[in-house]
Amino acid sequence: MSSELLQQIREGGRVPGHVAVIMDGNGRWAKGRGLPRYRGHAAGMDSVREVIEGAIEAGVRVLTLFAFSQENWNRPEREVNALMKLLQLYVTRERNELVRQGVEVHVHGDTDRLAAGPRRAIEAIQAATVGGQVLHLNLMISYGGRAELVRAARRLAERVRAGELDPGDIDETALADELYTAGLPDPDLLIRTSGEQRVSNFMLWQVAYTELYITPLLWPEFRREHLFEAICDYQGRERRFGRVTAV
Ligand code: IPE
Ligand code: IPE
Ligand code: MG
Repeated sequence: MSSELLQQIREGGRVPGHVAVIMDGNGRWAKGRGLPRYRGHAAGMDSVREVIEGAIEAGVRVLTLFAFSQENWNRPEREVNALMKLLQLYVTRERNELVRQGVEVHVHGDTDRLAAGPRRAIEAIQAATVGGQVLHLNLMISYGGRAELVRAARRLAERVRAGELDPGDIDETALADELYTAGLPDPDLLIRTSGEQRVSNFMLWQVAYTELYITPLLWPEFRREHLFEAICDYQGRERRFGRVTAV
């Protein structure tokens, strides 16, 4: 089934260059099985591997995964600790495989809030994967879209204060250049699992014209063929960017 979908994607032409994913529904997946929430997060790690491999197979160039939000710090300490342990385990365990696959990993967010263990693991995976040419992988951790915009505003203000920039020269490009995603295209496709119809403070600037795809599947159920289905759906969309269709 997944190879048929891949064939369809290739014939469909336009592959989204940048796919972003809000990986949601781990807790509900665990609850449905009578398991503690962290088991859902653990199961979700297989889906991360699937979506990375699927993105490579489909020819996606940039994949951005929302792994832990700024607001997720407000969850019970036990769950936060479990998530951080899993994060550390994931980046340590997958490092060599990601290097082999040509994946360059970038971690974005307020990572100063992370404990030393996960922070070091993140630094190590970023250093080890530098130069990966096949896929640019952004892991958004301790990330909030509004915080990212505040950070960009501060950086612009600092450049004005230093006399490097005139306030009148601040335009959309100047602001975009101060975001974590500087130099990358905006997401073409945003997938959210578990059926929630909201953006939850994710990439507020970058999703201005992104196509949305919401699936009821819970994140631990998500496999590469589901990514392929989302891409096929995307290929049938008409992106107008506010214009009218050529007749
Ligand atoms: C997504 O699953 C993972 C994170 C937000 C870290 P959830 O933990 O939000 O799962 P639900 O939404 O409670 O089912
Ligand atoms: C968004 O999911 C954050 C991540 C997937 C990392 P949440 O589960 O935290 O979002 P809400 O609370 O349902 O909006
Ligand atoms: Mg959730």
